[in-house]
Amino acid sequence: MSRAGLDKNPREVAEMFDGVAKGYDLTNSVMTLGFDRRWREWTRKVLDAKAGEKILDLAAGTAVSTVEFGSAGAWCVAADFSLGMLRSGARRPVPKIAADALHLPFASGVFDAATVSFGLRNFQGTVDALREMARVVRPGGRLVICELSKPSWKPLRQLYNNVALRALPVIARPVASNSDAYSYLAESIRDWHDQRTLAELIAEAGWEDVAWMNLTGGMAALHRATKPA
Ligand SMILES: C[S@@+](CC[C@H](N)C(=O)[O-])C[C@H]1O[C@@H](n2cnc3c(N)ncnc32)[C@H](O)[C@@H]1O
Repeated sequence: MSRAGLDKNPREVAEMFDGVAKGYDLTNSVMTLGFDRRWREWTRKVLDAKAGEKILDLAAGTAVSTVEFGSAGAWCVAADFSLGMLRSGARRPVPKIAADALHLPFASGVFDAATVSFGLRNFQGTVDALREMARVVRPGGRLVICELSKPSWKPLRQLYNNVALRALPVIARPVASNSDAYSYLAESIRDWHDQRTLAELIAEAGWEDVAWMNLTGGMAALHRATKPA
């Protein structure tokens, strides 16, 4: 069984992502009906990385978003603890580094912004990881989190929980290199915080001016915050 338990043992989580790395980008797009592209586009806009800035894309996987964040000339590094995922994105022309979100191999205050897309949910300690990101970002720097979330309209929430999440492993089967992992994905989404709770956790980790916006009715959400100057 290669599904990571919901206790999120880091070694099991890394092995699980190694197992789905082949074909990950395609599976992602199929499962989100292509919405992932729009969500990445929104994340890029809100992050607003400018030429000359240094950006940490944490839990970057195949670096699909990292490349996009650097499109205006910022220097963006893709960090992830799954070598399989990083290797799967080897063709993408950005620096890549094997790193655990809870023990980042960077000095304090070296980045202008840190961002995570669809990764925070997998970390063993959400607040600890948010604190670690605050450590490596300079005072006044930014945080942007894109994560699957809770649809705010009740009928959509019920449809999402009772139909879409149950169908995930079945939809993933023909394209995923390890469809078992997508049962974990569905469980981890059900188990994840709502928008307001995540905003509170971000503030608890020392970030300020926390705000969020829903994407596609709240199926995903973008949170942003600033490190106190
Ligand atoms: C769902 S994928 C998202 C990848 C990418 N950000 C994207 O948007 O497609 C989650 C990623 O988080 C990484 N990850 C999970 N826990 C991590 C940790 N503690 N440290 C570093 N990476 C982690 C996994 O290896 C995986 O590549």
